[in-house]
Amino acid sequence: MTRLAIIGTGYVGLTTGVCFAHLGHDVVCADVDVDKVARLNRGEVSIVEHRLDELLAEGLRKGNLRFVVGAAAAVTDAEIVFLCVPTPQGEDGSADLSYVEAASAQIAKALAYEAIVVNKSTVPVGSTRVVERVLQRPDVRVVSNPEFLREGSAVDDFLKPDRVVVGCEDNAAAVAVAALYDAIRPHVIITDPASAETIKYAANAFLATKLSFVNAIAAICEGVGADVDDVMVGIGYDKRIGSEFLRPGPGWGGSCFGKDSRALLNIATNAGYRFDLLSGVIAVNDEQFDRVTDKIRVGAGGSLKGATIAVWGLTFKARTDDLRDSPSISIINRLLAQGARVQAFDPTVAAIKPGVPADVVIHENVVSATADADVLAVLTEWDDFRWTAPADVAAVMKGRHVVDGRNLLDRAAWQHAGFTHVGIGR
Ligand code: UDX
Repeated sequence: MTRLAIIGTGYVGLTTGVCFAHLGHDVVCADVDVDKVARLNRGEVSIVEHRLDELLAEGLRKGNLRFVVGAAAAVTDAEIVFLCVPTPQGEDGSADLSYVEAASAQIAKALAYEAIVVNKSTVPVGSTRVVERVLQRPDVRVVSNPEFLREGSAVDDFLKPDRVVVGCEDNAAAVAVAALYDAIRPHVIITDPASAETIKYAANAFLATKLSFVNAIAAICEGVGADVDDVMVGIGYDKRIGSEFLRPGPGWGGSCFGKDSRALLNIATNAGYRFDLLSGVIAVNDEQFDRVTDKIRVGAGGSLKGATIAVWGLTFKARTDDLRDSPSISIINRLLAQGARVQAFDPTVAAIKPGVPADVVIHENVVSATADADVLAVLTEWDDFRWTAPADVAAVMKGRHVVDGRNLLDRAAWQHAGFTHVGIGR
């Protein structure tokens, strides 16, 4: 059992805190938001994240997990402190380190002698040094331990990681951080801080590259009469490629891929390398939003002006309520800009909220969202949509066009009900 402090209770910090408590450590989590801290101490989670509430309740019940206001209050007893604060995109595309620096300044004097400070936030290569500089504590070691958590399955990803990466010049500190994960027996990679930080960016950029590649092949499939889903099964069996992360879609999004890709472009420029490949990956993604918008426009008869478009799915993927950098919202903005009316349903969005354009009409029922619509666009892969009967939609919808941006629906069933079904890459 190690005494831990976690600074920041966003997706990463909260998941890290409750999971380390689940593994038996003594965990104090800090946030600046007084109301949020009170809610968490009552066991209330405000985000949709599988098993997070269950493990939060477990930690509170066992007494080895608690939440306090302010970073300094959390760290006084801690042997190891995790920085899990946001690193938003700065104006030039680089990651903004101000939260990391502010948190470091707040804990500098309060840290116990020879404590270890761990950076879990996604930070530019070299940030370990920045934290060291702000702390001004020669007795304290700073370690990089990037996270690879997917929203929606963050708890499972934490407890069954593909690997744990630890970067530190001091081997004893690296081993102490790696040992926190002993109970789950992960593959551990111990390396220097710059390599650990680069691993995080390289992993996300590689995954984004994989998806832009799939969507580019999908565009080719449409031109040559091939089926991208079969093509991906065919290449996925090659162990060097791997069968995961090959689903075509309306473009990739979420809080990490866009931000981290642009940050890596910046890092590359500063390192003297023009990363044209990654610029292309981002450009292909923007084109994908345009391509899906075009499919919807064609379904509406060639013009979106005055057309009513039903959109199923607003979040950036299923099993999360996160709207940040959502492909669905990017496409909706294009539809609205071309004069369409948009009515939408998403299982996690009950009314207009930050992130959803104010002109969108939100429905609380999957079928009613299609009433009188000219085109139905499926933009997030929620199961609710897969199981909705096409006949129920046909009874209320005006047009008979479905643009399935996730290749989610049963094409034959929808065609049988009289719909034109246009997917991605087939
Ligand atoms: C990602 C990384 O996977 C994770 O390791 C990192 O720590 C944070 O960023 P996340 O943003 O939660 O996680 O989402 P992810 O599941 O990776 O999906 C990202 C985007 O790619 C979504 O828009 C998703 O719909 C899309 N996607 C994913 C596809 O279009 N096809 C796929 O096969 C997989």
